[in-house]
Amino acid sequence: MKEEKEMIILAIETSCDETSAAVVKNGKEILSNAISSQIELHAKFGGVVPEVASRKHVEKMNPIIDEALNAAGITFADLDGVAVTHGPGLIGALLVGVAEAKAIAFALDIPLIGVHHIEGHISANYIEHDLKPPFLCMVVSGGHTHLVEVKDYGSYRIIGRTRDDAVGEAYDKVARSIGLGYPGGPKMDLLAKTGNGKAINFPRTYLEQGSYDFSFSGIKSAVLNYLNQMKMKNEAINAADVAASFQEAVIEVITNKTMMAAKNLGMNKIALAGGVASNSRLREEMQRKAKENGYDLYYPSPIYCTDNAAMIGVAAYHDYKNGIHHDMSLNASSNIQFG
Ligand code: KG4
Ligand code: ZN
Repeated sequence: MKEEKEMIILAIETSCDETSAAVVKNGKEILSNAISSQIELHAKFGGVVPEVASRKHVEKMNPIIDEALNAAGITFADLDGVAVTHGPGLIGALLVGVAEAKAIAFALDIPLIGVHHIEGHISANYIEHDLKPPFLCMVVSGGHTHLVEVKDYGSYRIIGRTRDDAVGEAYDKVARSIGLGYPGGPKMDLLAKTGNGKAINFPRTYLEQGSYDFSFSGIKSAVLNYLNQMKMKNEAINAADVAASFQEAVIEVITNKTMMAAKNLGMNKIALAGGVASNSRLREEMQRKAKENGYDLYYPSPIYCTDNAAMIGVAAYHDYKNGIHHDMSLNASSNIQFG
């Protein structure tokens, strides 16, 4: 049998505060995944400042592409395609990556593939696992909380989503309120390990019976109220207990809704995706419940959970195989439909 031609894709991701470029072979092998994080730059403002992010992407874009090509041991001439996140995300930040990808595709006369950021996060699961659709994916990031039925490559149905804050956003806000700084998620994860998750009974928001949707604004307010009350009573706050109790409440809802969806949809494979999929307690609880119900659980290594270009290259490969590619009219969009 004739071996299928290999496809080497240069992928670019600039939707938020990471400038990343990766070289991906045949949608699976990560030849390089260069990431320049802007976390320290934004930390002093307590969150991502869009204009600052865009400027930093402009500065880092070319060096990060050189780094990715060098690490992969290839040159522009070896590329068979260029992929880029075209949304959703910060518009100014996205535009930097999209303009760059278009220039490269035009100059080299190779296919241009625009990728939806959430599809990228989901596709990160294909890198290290032998996972194939259909499966259920719980996408938990700083901007999104989506429970997705992955029917096939490129075929998605969102069955639940947050009605207010994304889970990562709630983590970051609660972290700030207990003085952990930005980005709070990883710090909350660490601190919670030393706290008692049963110390404070924060609300679990399940919404209507049978709903797969989420809401995290209630628990965020409950934490702030608790902190205010303690302050008024002049009582000391145990930040580790607050972090652990917040986490228990949020993770209980996420894991229970995921199990309910897997059962109702008859899915036996569950994947986690997005920055919060790095969370050690979420992984542990999801694993425990998955095992209890006889489901297989998959999640990417932390480096492929947070924003990275490798996941975009993987998604782009499957999109391209499905006949999806774009012309020079591809535009960045802060809010594009998914599923
Ligand atoms: O996927 P991502 O890098 O960016 C978006 O697409 O939003 O996710 C970033 C989010 C941030 O809110 C960050 O605090 C959270 O993921 N995060 C975590 C952990 N690591 C990152 N949240 C909880 N526990 C973690 N270990
Ligand atoms: Zn992301």
